[in-house]
Amino acid sequence: MAGKPVRILAIESSCDETAAAVVEDGETVLSSVVASQLITHGKYGGVVPELASREHLRAIVPVVREALEIAHTTLGSVDAIAVTVGPGLVGSLLVGLTYAKSLSFASGRPLIAVNHIEGHIHSVILEARRVSTPVALPALALVVSGGHTHLFEVRENFAYRLLGKTRDDAAGEAFDKVAKLLGFGYPGGPIIDSLAPHGDASAVRFTFARMKGNALDFSFSGLKTAVLRWVEARPMEAEIAVRRAFLRQHPQPSTEEWLALTPPPTLGLLASFQRAVITELLTRAAAAAESFRAHALIIAGGVACNTGLRAAAKLAHLPYPVYFPSPGLSTDNAAMIGAAAFPKLARGEFAALDIAAQANLTLA
Ligand code: KG4
Ligand code: ZN
Repeated sequence: MAGKPVRILAIESSCDETAAAVVEDGETVLSSVVASQLITHGKYGGVVPELASREHLRAIVPVVREALEIAHTTLGSVDAIAVTVGPGLVGSLLVGLTYAKSLSFASGRPLIAVNHIEGHIHSVILEARRVSTPVALPALALVVSGGHTHLFEVRENFAYRLLGKTRDDAAGEAFDKVAKLLGFGYPGGPIIDSLAPHGDASAVRFTFARMKGNALDFSFSGLKTAVLRWVEARPMEAEIAVRRAFLRQHPQPSTEEWLALTPPPTLGLLASFQRAVITELLTRAAAAAESFRAHALIIAGGVACNTGLRAAAKLAHLPYPVYFPSPGLSTDNAAMIGAAAFPKLARGEFAALDIAAQANLTLA
């Protein structure tokens, strides 16, 4: 394969973004198109699976066409078709997978099945190769999104070992649920992130129960319940109702608009909640990294966008480099799927055309 660049057309549709990308040699993103369904699901405060599949069906053909056009390439000149096979919503996965199979069949190009979680890890590996020093292995990967909060050891040749995971809610899910409870929009992570710097992070003290069994597992449901108790103990109905009413009129309020509708005690709650989540994530990630003397820490997934998390990781002065993807590669996209597929193409690891979508696929 040396010499001629290898191009992969990648498709991602596991949740609520329809995405396609063309990636060259596992590191150069020639195009990355993401059609977000935020407006559709925002009204419901979460992803509605039936609506998601319908939106994917509408978007998949134009999104793939656009990705090929932006990359100035055609189906006939890509070397492989990569697609997310799981985990995710089965109805959403099916749309991307079925289309990818059809493209593979029609073009005679091999199909490569990619695990969505591995994609998030590769979003960082891709960028590091291109813009800074390559990630030294073994590395610890913290994959933290709306669906996952997982710690993996990443070994040579991209072999993975699971070290810990959430026993209940994912961290992003906790952000989304707390935001919904308080009358903010969906997804909650970016909203809480933008409001937290305006609140006193020591206003509310949250305590975490010690984990029985694996000390590297996470649990966020207790924190969510503590927020609920805090809200129930105060007369907050009117404040929350005002935000909900505002949201019905303005689907995506600005930070200034939210600030005008959020008094200091609530800002303090949000800041304290965010700080508690960040402390949990970084404490366990550091312990996991130490357990096998990791050479690097990779933090990926939607929650990796969080500015407080990025700042805290920097301030922690960890004894190894910490890598975050740029914001565009943090949330769901297809470039990361194309990057994860590259070593599989080199190994000839192809999928049969009858491969099924796997909603609960694990990485290790
Ligand atoms: O990776 P992603 O796009 O989709 C999943 O695979 O889940 O992650 C979406 C999740 C949502 O829960 C969203 O609230 C969270 O990532 N998120 C954030 C931020 N941006 C997105 N959480 C905290 N701070 C952010 N800035
Ligand atoms: Zn994701």
